[in-house]
Amino acid sequence: MSATAPHPEAAEAAHPDAPELVVDRLTVRFAGLTALDEVSLTVAPGSLHALIGPNGAGKSTCFNVLSGVYRATSGSVRLGGTELTSLAPHRIAALGMARTFQNIALSGRLSTADNLMLGRHRLTRTGFVSAGLRLPGGRREERRHRDRVREIAEFVGIEEHLATPAGLLPYGVQKRVELARALCLEPRILLLDEPVAGMNGAERLAMAATLRQVRAGLGLSLLLVEHDMDMVARLADEVTVLDFGRRIASGPPAAVQRDPEVIRAYLGTGGNGERSEST
Ligand SMILES: Nc1ncnc2c1ncn2[C@@H]1O[C@H](COP(=O)(O)OP(=O)(O)OP(=O)(O)O)[C@@H](O)[C@H]1O
Ligand SMILES: [Mg+2]
Repeated sequence: MSATAPHPEAAEAAHPDAPELVVDRLTVRFAGLTALDEVSLTVAPGSLHALIGPNGAGKSTCFNVLSGVYRATSGSVRLGGTELTSLAPHRIAALGMARTFQNIALSGRLSTADNLMLGRHRLTRTGFVSAGLRLPGGRREERRHRDRVREIAEFVGIEEHLATPAGLLPYGVQKRVELARALCLEPRILLLDEPVAGMNGAERLAMAATLRQVRAGLGLSLLLVEHDMDMVARLADEVTVLDFGRRIASGPPAAVQRDPEVIRAYLGTGGNGERSEST
């Protein structure tokens, strides 16, 4: 297979509900620092797009604007034609955009199942309060959501951990719980910020396989921030490379890996984009 051939999942994954995500000349300034400088990228429906770049390049900032946590200084973000830049995070989630965080953000004392139920909160009609009050409609609805939580847990391979407090699970499993929680929102596009960071080789391969299944089985679009170039080359249809807030390259993984500007940006990072602390 040539390095630029489309991934076999691409055709299967084309999903009528997966909207196009268009980021157009997005700029974000913090006091004195331009974290994103007129960055544009498009995530095609049902595709897996990777956003890569050395430490501090602006990848998480980009996610934070897409999900409504940070405000853009200028530029636009459109999901299926809807402008997102002025919307609050819960409105963006309601449009079908879910995300995971670079640092695990689970409720450590709650069971895995309850963490996943929180992920479904926007989908509940009666809210879990009425379930707590033992209203029949609420109880039925809660059961329906618990069933779906179990299905998603099985899909992601964490069903045996449903009753365990999330904080007691090994790190690699917690990363999977985060993925499952984002899927519990029934998203049409999923943003994953370093889903295999801190994992060992076997866990990385297993997570890559899961992401392929998510994409093929659920027909989502995925935007992935990742340092691991092998993982990106294995999974992504398109790659956008940031360096110091600017887009320095974009295209299929094989072409991007050969791009001289990308090679230059990754020099001195040990090839994995992680700049040493001392520089
Ligand atoms: N809330 C903030 N206030 C001020 N500066 C910020 C804020 N968030 C991010 N930055 C700065 O913006 C730049 C981009 O940071 P960002 O976290 O987006 O990088 P990144 O590409 O995700 O890096 P990493 O690979 O280390 O996760 C950095 O210089 C960072 O210090
Ligand atoms: Mg980051």
